[in-house]
Amino acid sequence: MALQALQWNERRLTVLDQTLLPAEVKYIPLPSATDVWEAIKVLRVRGAPLIGVSAAFGVIVGVLERHPADVQAVLQAVRETAEYLATSRPTAVNLFWALERMQRVATGEAAGSDAERLITRLESEARAIYDEEAARCRAIGAHGEALIREGDGVLTHCNAGGLATGEYGTALAPMFRAWELGRRFQVFADETRPLLQGARLTAWELAQEGIDVTLICDNMAAQVMREGRIQLVIVGADRIASNGDTANKIGTYGVAVSAKAHGVPFYVAAPSSTFDLAIESGAAIPIEQRDSSEITCGFGRPTAPGGVKVYNPAFDVTPAELIAGIITEQGILRPPYSQSIAAAAGRNLHV
Ligand code: MRU
Repeated sequence: MALQALQWNERRLTVLDQTLLPAEVKYIPLPSATDVWEAIKVLRVRGAPLIGVSAAFGVIVGVLERHPADVQAVLQAVRETAEYLATSRPTAVNLFWALERMQRVATGEAAGSDAERLITRLESEARAIYDEEAARCRAIGAHGEALIREGDGVLTHCNAGGLATGEYGTALAPMFRAWELGRRFQVFADETRPLLQGARLTAWELAQEGIDVTLICDNMAAQVMREGRIQLVIVGADRIASNGDTANKIGTYGVAVSAKAHGVPFYVAAPSSTFDLAIESGAAIPIEQRDSSEITCGFGRPTAPGGVKVYNPAFDVTPAELIAGIITEQGILRPPYSQSIAAAAGRNLHV
């Protein structure tokens, strides 16, 4: 990817402000934990893996702004910053996974260390999270590319590309890889109401790489399938339960139902950091509710009568039985997912 969604240089966190894309490419500094929280909350940084990576660096930002004098002060800053950042968004489990990992390293390596050494160690851990996520995305691309055949139409929803992960992406990784290998196909990108991640980010990312992309409104997907234009669906995930039920951007469930009705295989692509083995099914996944203004006045212009009641869940859960396979860094997991996910976890899927 030409653009990096996040940078950490000389102990400063900078992110590409995704709310401005595609009109403006602008990097903004996040000098405090409050800035990191706000950037995650309003989707300047977004997408499950990138939320986790941003939070990992955000913990260090929270430590540095307090100028801790000793190890105990570092530990307190790590704990408090992690608790604070955990309140930014509830659905993507990568956030909590990354925060727990940073806290584990801090408490595990505090003994015999000093403040400076411990902060340096936290930096290397956040960098490792970034690098590991990037490597997982490459592996997802390698495992998933064979699903795409020459001439296929591939539908995706929301944005699970390099912008959502730091590099390469999850759902888009098999597309990037197949294209690199010379296969030619067409991607249909759902625009993804209400915040248009599909239109603003996915269509933009794919076009940047020269991939043949066609933008459609969300309510067109079923018709486009019926016309025989789609042979494969690949989407990302924000949290996958141990039975394979998958939370992803609102509208994903409807795409899965349509795919089933039209005999189109529906795949989820996700790294191990997106699996939540502590929950049995999708019923336990917390669904983020967002502000009504995203629907009534999305991009600055009122589109509904004042005072109208609004329901705005940001995610939905696709039941495991609608999912043909889950593309992970280990390979493609197949139903029954309770067994294939448990077996993958035994091979260290969940670190
Ligand atoms: O609200 P967002 O933009 O953070 O939602 C993003 C998605 O739903 C993605 O599909 C998911 O996080 C996977 S990103 C690799």
